[in-house]
Amino acid sequence: MYRVTEVLRALRGGLPGRGRDVVPPVSVSVIYRFTGAAEDPVKEVKYGRENNPTTMVLEEALRVAEEAEWCLAFNTGMAAITTLLGVLAAGGARRVVASRLLYGTTRSLLDQMASMGLLEALYAGPPWDELLRAVEDQGPDVVLVETIGNPTLRVPPLRELAATCRERGCVLVVDNTFASPYLFQPLMLPGEVVVVESLTKYIAGHNDVLGGVVCGRGEELHRRLWDARRMMGSILQPLDAYLAARGLRTLHLRMEAVSRGASEVARGLLEKGLVERVYYPGLPSHPDHETARRLFPGLYGGVLSFDVGSGEAAKRVLRELRLVVPSPSLGGVESIMAYPYESSHRGLGEEEKRRLGITPGLLRLSVGLEEPRDVLEDVARAIRAAFGA
Ligand SMILES: Cc1ncc(COP(=O)(O)O)c(C=O)c1O
Repeated sequence: MYRVTEVLRALRGGLPGRGRDVVPPVSVSVIYRFTGAAEDPVKEVKYGRENNPTTMVLEEALRVAEEAEWCLAFNTGMAAITTLLGVLAAGGARRVVASRLLYGTTRSLLDQMASMGLLEALYAGPPWDELLRAVEDQGPDVVLVETIGNPTLRVPPLRELAATCRERGCVLVVDNTFASPYLFQPLMLPGEVVVVESLTKYIAGHNDVLGGVVCGRGEELHRRLWDARRMMGSILQPLDAYLAARGLRTLHLRMEAVSRGASEVARGLLEKGLVERVYYPGLPSHPDHETARRLFPGLYGGVLSFDVGSGEAAKRVLRELRLVVPSPSLGGVESIMAYPYESSHRGLGEEEKRRLGITPGLLRLSVGLEEPRDVLEDVARAIRAAFGA
C-alpha cells in the first residue's frame, strides 16, 4: 500500500547536518568536507558525482513509496534502464525475455545491446500466455515488462508472471512509469523484483525535469548499480532531484485526478462514437480490464489511446488541438497527445507495429489536470474538424 504520510514525512526530513530545514534545500555543492572514508561508500557524501544530499532525500522518499530496500536516482529514465540492464548482463544475467509492448526506446536499447553481444533478447506477448510460456520454456535470467504497456495500455498478469519468474529463478524487472507507485508497487510481488521508473512522467509530474530511478532489494545489486552510476556520472542532479521531490509530494492527488479524468475522457469518446477504438484499462472492453481491476486500487492511470483510422487523420487531429498539447510524453499537469507510430515506437518494423496495434491512426492521450470535460471537448472538436465535420 502506498503510504502517503510516510512519503511526505521522508520528504520533510532535513539534510545531514542541516536538520532545521522543513523543506530540504537544494545542495548545490559538488564537494563535501571529507576527512576519512566512512564504512559504507554508498552512503558517503563527499563528491557530487557519487552522492548528493538532495538526491538522497528523494531516494529515501521513493524507497518508502515503492516499499523498497533502496532506490538510486539517475538523470533520465533511460539512464536508469540502461544501467540496470548493463549491470545485470555484466553479472551474467544475459538472457532476457521482454514483453513486445515496451517503450520504443527500451526495445531499441535491448536490440542494440543484443547486436553488441551484451545480452540475448527474446520478445513475447501480448497475448500474455505467450509471455508466460516463453518464461516457462526459456527460463531466462531476466524478464522485462511495463505495468501498463506502451501505447495500448496492456496490463500483464503480474502476479502469475512473478510466480513463474520465482519458480524459474529469474529476475522480474518492472517499468512502473505509467502506473507510478500510487497505483501499483511491483516490489509487493513475490520473488526477485526490480523496479525502474522514469521520474520525468508522473512522479515529477510537471514536464520540467528529466529523471529516472531503480528501486530494489538486496545489497549486492545496489552496490553494483551505485558503482556504475558513479563511474558513468549519471546521478540525478540536485535541482532536478528537488523538482522531482516537489512533484512526488502531490503524486497521490494527481494520480487520483488524472485517473478519473482519463476514465471520463475514454468513456466520453466511446459514447460520442467518433473513433474506431479506445484503449483504456479502466474500460470493461479493454482486454486486460479484469487483470487491472485486480492489481490496481480502482484507478487505471491517466493515459488512454484511440484510433482515428489513418495517419492523415491522426496528424490532422494533432494540428487541430487547441487545449491539449501535441507532444510525445505523458504524466504532466498539461494534457498531451502523442503519436506513437512516428515517435515513441517509430523504430519498430511495420509488421511488429501492426501486431501490437500501433497503427498510423493511433493517438495516445495523457490526461492532465484540466477539467476532463474541457479535454474531451477539445479532443472531440479536433476529431470532428479533422474529418471536416
Ligand atoms: C515507459 C517508459 N519508460 C521509460 C521511459 C524513458 O524515460 P526518460 O524519458 O525519462 O528517459 C519512458 C519515456 O517516455 C517511458 O514511457
